[in-house]
Amino acid sequence: MSEGITRRQVLALGAAGAGALAVGATGLVVSGLSSQVGTPESGPVPGPGGGAWAEPAVLTSQNGLLELDLRVAEANVLIGGSAVRMLSYNGTVPGPTLHLRPGDRLRVWLRNELGEPTNVHTHGLRVSAVGNGDNPFLRIDPGQTFEYEIDLPDDHPSGVFWYHPHQHGLVADQLFGGLYGAIIVDEDDWSDTAPRVVVVSDVTIAGGSVARVAGVDRMLGRTGETLLTNGLVAPRLAAPSGSEQRLLVINACASRYLDMGLAGLNARLRGLDSGHRDEELVDRVLLVPGNRADLVITTPARPVDLIAAGYDRGQAGMGMMGGPAAMVSDALMLTVTPDASASVPDISPPTPETHPDLRDVTVDGTRTITMQMGMGGGMRFLIDGRAFDPDRVDQQVSIGTVEEWTIRNTSPMDHPFHLHIWPMQIIRAEGAETAELDIRDVVDVPAGSSVVVRIAFDRFPGRTVYHCHILDHEDLGMMGVIEAG
Ligand code: C2O
Ligand code: CU
Ligand code: CU
Repeated sequence: MSEGITRRQVLALGAAGAGALAVGATGLVVSGLSSQVGTPESGPVPGPGGGAWAEPAVLTSQNGLLELDLRVAEANVLIGGSAVRMLSYNGTVPGPTLHLRPGDRLRVWLRNELGEPTNVHTHGLRVSAVGNGDNPFLRIDPGQTFEYEIDLPDDHPSGVFWYHPHQHGLVADQLFGGLYGAIIVDEDDWSDTAPRVVVVSDVTIAGGSVARVAGVDRMLGRTGETLLTNGLVAPRLAAPSGSEQRLLVINACASRYLDMGLAGLNARLRGLDSGHRDEELVDRVLLVPGNRADLVITTPARPVDLIAAGYDRGQAGMGMMGGPAAMVSDALMLTVTPDASASVPDISPPTPETHPDLRDVTVDGTRTITMQMGMGGGMRFLIDGRAFDPDRVDQQVSIGTVEEWTIRNTSPMDHPFHLHIWPMQIIRAEGAETAELDIRDVVDVPAGSSVVVRIAFDRFPGRTVYHCHILDHEDLGMMGVIEAG
């Protein structure tokens, strides 16, 4: 660990009380475009950022095992200098970073101290979804503790992953409330090569707690007024001018697309999601919700702002009527600042991609998945004409096959498509063949377009899900069940 990095990035001011949940308007049904538009009460907004860099505490596996208690509870955390009632894993926002190695076992004792059910999902890990593994159908009720056991295969790729709740109907509320944390799979022991973990989220604060959202915000996908980097408002990342730093960036926002402007940082992209690539210079990287980037930057001679540029995800209205737009404006993620006295860890060498190139294989089957928005008792969020039903299997696939999926979006809004367990290789997007080996577990499907991916169902029989990673849309039904056998 280098000097100058505080492991504890937010101060837990006290234990959770027994009061009502600050967030979590559960079961709100969207019934119209404008009938439930509400104005959140105004309250103290986070003060100016620019504070010192900090990262979540790191928990590292020992002898093939990382075992931890993960307490899900309300906590008072400091956001931009004021105490805010949020949801947290182990009292901090984000929760602890879990540092694993391929072949490890992750044992999590999830203790639910919320007033509503929750569970946890290890986003992007290539692990089994059955039993007490990465099973999104589990429901951990208030007061319960559940033992998750997640086994990483020996050939699990290194990279950056993350964890968050997956309790259908409550996912966006719980994530927006503060429940997310990083998972890094890396052979390295980080004694002198620890990467910078950069967990980006957004939140709206009203009256000292997380704002409830109106129906229209659920339809659009809620975006928070305040962008947080490791729970901090626009922190300064200080390092000697000319030094290299490796950033593992996670888009943990409920809905916000992070269109990261990297000009002036000599940024080289090493990987997206669990995929690795030959380093390439980039001045922009788009991370849709759930996406991660592995980046190496060079600290400039004067401070450079890393800004998530304004983005237009389309609109919730149908047809000529238009409707509310899903737009955000520029937001400052962090400022890279030269500081001769700061020390930086070394950069570990890049990892070559080991995923087979599925462009070279014969596919065993094709299918089309259509993400739709429709009217009918309010705006409905559907896949192939249906809303999520945990008791229905929507796609049955066979272990040992490779499939080509065309993922269509017939709606006027962008939807980031996510498949659990099995990564997708992008074959064709925006009408063009993909030039490189591009492995993702969340693929953006812009409004009115389609993307073609290939998926190797090479292992892990069982049932899991695919869904829009605008988590409000997932909660509203834009999710399906896949069974591999
Ligand atoms: Cu990041 Cu099914 O989720
Ligand atoms: Cu996931
Ligand atoms: Cu969506």
